[in-house]
Amino acid sequence: MRLYICIMNILIVGSGGRESAFAYKIAQSPKLTNLFIAPGNAGTGQYGKNIDLKVTDFEGIATFALENKIELILVGPEEPLVKGIHDYFLNREDIKHIAVIGPQQLGAQLEGSKDFSKEFMFRHNIPTAAYKSFNQSNLEEGLAYLETQKLPIVLKADGLAAGKGVLICETLEDAKAELKAMIADAKFGAASSVVVIEEFLKGIELSVFVLTDGESYKVLPSAKDYKRIGEGDTGLNTGGMGSISPVPFANEEFLTKVEDRIIKPTIDGLKKDNIPYKGFIFIGLMNVDGEPFVIEYNVRMGDPETESVLPRIESDLVDLLEGVAKGDLANRSYTVSPKTAVTVMLVSGGYPGDYESGKVISNIENVKESIVFHAGTKEVNGEVVTAGGRVLAVTTLQDDLFTALQQATADAGRIFYQGKYFRTDIGFDLI
Ligand code: AMP
Ligand code: GLY
Repeated sequence: MRLYICIMNILIVGSGGRESAFAYKIAQSPKLTNLFIAPGNAGTGQYGKNIDLKVTDFEGIATFALENKIELILVGPEEPLVKGIHDYFLNREDIKHIAVIGPQQLGAQLEGSKDFSKEFMFRHNIPTAAYKSFNQSNLEEGLAYLETQKLPIVLKADGLAAGKGVLICETLEDAKAELKAMIADAKFGAASSVVVIEEFLKGIELSVFVLTDGESYKVLPSAKDYKRIGEGDTGLNTGGMGSISPVPFANEEFLTKVEDRIIKPTIDGLKKDNIPYKGFIFIGLMNVDGEPFVIEYNVRMGDPETESVLPRIESDLVDLLEGVAKGDLANRSYTVSPKTAVTVMLVSGGYPGDYESGKVISNIENVKESIVFHAGTKEVNGEVVTAGGRVLAVTTLQDDLFTALQQATADAGRIFYQGKYFRTDIGFDLI
């Protein structure tokens, strides 16, 4: 008799709430042998082993992967993807057998360049706002173009700008000043050397997530995130203060439109354009009177959306990721729980502006009905302390939205640290 020993060592790259949720889900897999998270945080250590490596240290990650017989690397954030981590692995003979989940540099341009993604959408007839791109060489044309457009108008830095590169201008004066500041004065550095001027879409936002091996795809649960710092969606933009899944207004009819008009043409478009793609696609959508329009693509999962999406996936995530790596995702089983997940983010006082770190966190163990995913935390002398703007993500899974909202909010209140802040109104607009 021959004995087959299947080893599945997995490395997650990243350190936020999203990566904590991935670690939580992957740790449940019967297929997993060893799990590592680089660099991880104070919470990811309960699911695997944290490895002190930067997400852009490709050589360090490669050396670690070889030494620890890693079979699969799941890349959480966009930066290493846009900088080419997947290409780095494919281009080195000794590591090209290691599967990387996340697109190569070319596909990552869907997030890394707004101009690239708008051209892609127009080429493949994917509904999105009308636009034009400008740079230093045609800045005057851009200013004249603004005069012909309706207000408000949206200006987007072409490149990655840490979520800050989108401006919605209410007046022509403001739009002209911002366009000049972005292009001529490098308001967002090199990221705004090209600016996409885009029609303003009025509607309600939501996100749809897709996992693809480049041929077939699975539509993951949809989610809605709450970006503003203040109650009632007011104040400054943040990375995300909470999320819910599913989204009540994304009914079957709407999601069928999304699949037919957006998801299928996106996967087909990638194939037609010879853009290899193995990984997640996060499609930011605007629901305009029941019609879906793409606001943006991201080439990774969202944070805090992942914390609401993954707990609803009943299937083995490692099996699905293996399907992506091997190109047989179509044959993998995939089921989703009908329950509702709500995530409330606990942040540091002052975030998204200046905030203090190093505050001792207590009482997490008294949260019984929610999962507490760590985001900006670290361990110092045996204590868990705050180490970022977004500190913890509290997720609960319940039979209905109202119960879930109450539970997540109550559990968010059970945890303590100096300066703790969270929104108590996540999802209540949808009841
Ligand atoms: P993005 O970085 O592309 O996600 O844009 C940031 C935010 O700006 C989005 O989440 C939307 O709230 C808003 N936004 C972007 N594009 C548009 C648009 N064309 N119309 C209205 N709002 C937009
Ligand atoms: N929550 C939005 C994002 O991950 O980009």
